[in-house]
Amino acid sequence: MTLPVSLDADAAAAVLAWYDRHRRELPWRVPPGEAADPYKVWLSEIMLQQTTVAAVKPYFAAFLSLWPNVGLLADARSEEVMRAWAGLGYYSRARNLHTCAKIIAERYKGAFPATEASLRELPGIGPYTAAAIAAIAFGQRAAAIDGNVTRVAARLFAIDAPLPAALPAIKAKMIGLVPAARPGDFAQAMMDLGATVCTPRSPSCHICPLRALCLGYASGIAGSLPHKAPRPQRPLRRGAAFFVRRQDGAVLVRTRPAKGLLGGMVELPGTGWEEDFDADLAVKQSPVRAPHRKLDHVVAHAFTHFALQLEIYVAEVPNGQRAPNGCRFVAAGDLDKEAFSGVMRKVLEAARKSAATAWAD
Ligand code: ADE
Repeated sequence: MTLPVSLDADAAAAVLAWYDRHRRELPWRVPPGEAADPYKVWLSEIMLQQTTVAAVKPYFAAFLSLWPNVGLLADARSEEVMRAWAGLGYYSRARNLHTCAKIIAERYKGAFPATEASLRELPGIGPYTAAAIAAIAFGQRAAAIDGNVTRVAARLFAIDAPLPAALPAIKAKMIGLVPAARPGDFAQAMMDLGATVCTPRSPSCHICPLRALCLGYASGIAGSLPHKAPRPQRPLRRGAAFFVRRQDGAVLVRTRPAKGLLGGMVELPGTGWEEDFDADLAVKQSPVRAPHRKLDHVVAHAFTHFALQLEIYVAEVPNGQRAPNGCRFVAAGDLDKEAFSGVMRKVLEAARKSAATAWAD
């Protein structure tokens, strides 16, 4: 006689068996049976928030070689941390990471707390990340629900209410699904399944370990789930950045205030970023008096809450030029060491290209 087994237990077993054969080899993962290092789990989970595995890998390696443990990261200077994070985006993560490292080093004597609730109290750790760390690093039965896992669950349970309204129902179902044994492997198995099989478009249902149990598949709607409420359009802000180059090649930069968008990151001087930006007044806001040339190329960048278009003005100043208040010149060879954000890297790239053509002769 076979005992009746619940969908939850069957699904967890199927996902774990699949993971044992198909898990992705990732630098922050340990072989089955080995204990994960909470520092590496925490660092990787913070980096992976809103960011792809491919983008994270080189940053994860660089952080580990600069700061192999949480105590060393806590002792780092904040400019060093920002510089190492530069290009990965969402810079409040780097500030929170550093603050969190100091709390772990001081208040917790270097040992991360093990429960979801205590992890939630730390800066930069929300519900998803707390659950992921509790499950992966400490074997707690916690449900780590990110975008990938949300999609898998919506399909498995055929939840057709639109997101975000459907999230509480998805969460309730997922909590029931997490097995008591190997919850960390289960969390990562669900992430891998969402990333490689149960993909947003054209999911590979024919190779899915959950196909026989998937209510979405059974009713032929898996590929169309989850439904999403229409997002309000991102407002467009515009502004100008000034690429001021001294004749010896040094470039004028400034550091943004520590708090707020891109806090503590380095940038070219520029105007504010406004919805009612007045292009005719832009050049008057340059920090230097010199002829400015406007580039044809406009840099576009998407932030979470707005889209940005930046015009670029290029000016050349003599070697004797002093840096205006709040700005400093950086030698051409040292520019790569500065903590420029992604949008500023785009501006620099465009300005350098144009400067190479304009000043080649
Ligand atoms: N995305 C977020 N956390 C992850 C992890 N631990 N493995 C793979 N992808 C992830």
